[in-house]
Parts: sequence; structure tokens; C-alpha cells
Amino acid sequence: MVSGLIALTACAGNDTPVNARSSGTTTTIAAPSCAKPATCTTRQLADAAGVLFGTAVSLQHLDEPDYQKTLLETFNSVTPENDLKWAAIHPKPGVWNFGPVDDLVAFAEKHHLAVKGHNLLWDQAPPSTSTTPKWVLAIKDPQRLRVVIRDHIATLMGRYRGKIDRWDVVNEPLETLGSAVQKNHFWRVLGNDYIAEVFRIAHAADPRAKLFINESTVEFMPAKAAALVALVKGLVARHVPINGVGIQAHLVSGTVDAARLEQLVGDLEALGVEVAITELDVPATAAVGPLQVQARTYAQALGACFVKRCREVTLWGFTDRYTWIDGAFKKGLAPLPFDVNYRPKPALDAIRQRLAAILPSN
Ligand code: XIL
Repeated sequence: MVSGLIALTACAGNDTPVNARSSGTTTTIAAPSCAKPATCTTRQLADAAGVLFGTAVSLQHLDEPDYQKTLLETFNSVTPENDLKWAAIHPKPGVWNFGPVDDLVAFAEKHHLAVKGHNLLWDQAPPSTSTTPKWVLAIKDPQRLRVVIRDHIATLMGRYRGKIDRWDVVNEPLETLGSAVQKNHFWRVLGNDYIAEVFRIAHAADPRAKLFINESTVEFMPAKAAALVALVKGLVARHVPINGVGIQAHLVSGTVDAARLEQLVGDLEALGVEVAITELDVPATAAVGPLQVQARTYAQALGACFVKRCREVTLWGFTDRYTWIDGAFKKGLAPLPFDVNYRPKPALDAIRQRLAAILPSN
């Protein structure tokens, strides 16, 4: 864990190494100095607070100067938004499209950013999403599917060993709007225990990596939240190598029940796993004062994490110019803390205040 006091008061050069907490290994973050919170970049605040503050990144935007500048001033962690998903990186048997993730990992190394791997397995049901390619969905023989999964995971975790130190191993294991385990392709072919199996495969591929389940909609569905806790409890009880749980937190209603979220973070941490908020965005849906409501919701989400041990928050993008919400829900809901022209919104201020509030000097 970083010492915020040192990071904030020692006016050393631009390449002072500061260790921000990363779940797997200690990640070295270069933190330029800043004298007091108001003069710090958001990234400096996160470094000093010992928080992994991340964003999903789409490689195609990285060459845009404002995109890159805003990213580097704000975050100390990145997650490839789509390029690591099975259909993108391994679209056919033996065909690998490593380029975009290689580029992101090189960018991250150059700028001392941590990288989270999203994701190794994701299949909704029904219908199956396109993130599992058709050739994998066509495999009905369990032994063959096991070999293919093992190869997929060993190849990716081997290639990025030491560079990607935390992974979403299974994304969305539970039904989107229910509480049962998704009866997806992997469940149908491998049986109910496929989640435990895949974690064991991932652990064998890189024993030092931190392995996460990543789940959606638990922020507003108490029964699903309870099912997630029960699922993780069962895995932990059987010594399945799971290290953490990601709560996606696409807060599509524009608000959050902070007490309930805090409770969920605490219930999961009580099982001995880490908790991270992994895909936070807040569509501005409120009719009155939407920017202020949005800012408050961001503050509540970060607060529910930081009040517990949770020290990792990733946003699903950062500029309203590029957000999956435009395509998946409705255009113009402007869910991110920078507007379409990279101007900070009240939400950014709310985030900065939450980070400043947990600086060791406070
Ligand atoms: C989304 C991406 O943001 C979109 O660009 C893509 O078209 C679909 O997937 N939960 C997840 C993410 O775990 O991988 C999803 O990302 C958003 C919901």
C-alpha cells in the first residue's frame, strides 16, 4: 500500500516510484509530486490514497491526444473494453489476434499503469452473447471443451504473465435478471461445477494472478446479491482459488442504494475475498439536476467501497464521447465524469473528494 503522505509531500521528480495497491503483485506507479489534494491530478490522488482507479479503454481512441491526456492524468489502471474477449482475441481455432491487447499492455508499461484482464469466459443464456465465438459454442463434448478452455486460458495468462496481474475469470456467472447460475454453454456441456473448474485452470496457468468473478446488476437486485455471496461462499469453502469479486455497477437507474451496496461489499469481504467496483457508470437519467444527482451517485458508489477494504474502482470509460451506454441503452445519457469534449463534470469533483477523504493524512 502506498504512503500517501510521502507521495503528497515529497516533492521529488516525475518518476518517483510509488506502490499503488494491485491485487496480484505490487504494481509500481510513477507518481509525480503534488503539494496538496487540490493541486493533484486525479491519478496522483488515487496513487496517494492507495486506490486502483481504472477505466475501460478502447484501443482505437488511444491516438486521440485529448483521450490519452485525460486518461493519463486521471487513472492508474486500465481494462481492455473488448479486445480481450474470446471472440475478439481468439476468433477461430488457432487464430489469435493479440495485437490490440499487446499494444495496450505496452502503453500501460510505458506509463506505469496496472492492467486488469477482462475476461476469460463469458456466456449469457439464452441467447449466447457474441463474446463466446461460434466455434466454441459448437463444441458439445466436455473433454474437448475442457482442452479448448485450458488452451485459451493458458495462452492468454501465459502471454501476459507479470503484465496483467488480475483477471475476470468468469464474467456474469448468474442470470442477468435472476439469481440462478446462467444455464449457458459452459454450464450445459461441463455441468454445474464449471465455474470451480475454470478457476482451477486459471490458477494453474498463472498461480500469482488474482482471480475474480465479475457480476452485474447485484447493486439493485438483493436476491441476486445474496446468490452471489452464496456462490462465492461455496467456492471459498471448497478452496477454489478465487481471490476477488467485481461488482460491475452499471448504475442504469442513475442512483444507487448506498447502504445496500456497502452491505454487499462487506458480506463478500467477510468471506475473505477482495472486492472491486469494476464497470462503474451512471447514466444521467434524473429529470432534475441530473449532473448533481450523477455526482452524488458516483460519490456514494466510491464511498460504499472505501468505507470497507475495497480499494479498486474502475469506470467503464471516462468521456461521454465514447460510452457503451449510447448503444446498449439510449443515446445522450452522458454517464461518465468527462463530457464529450473532455471537460470535467461535477462527477469528477465528487470522485476526487472521495479519494482525498481516504488519504492517509486525513
Ligand atoms: C460492453 C462494451 O462496453 C461494448 O463496447 C460491447 O459492445 C459490449 O460489451 N458488462 C461487461 C462488459 O462485463 O464487458 C460489457 O462491455 C458491458 C457489460
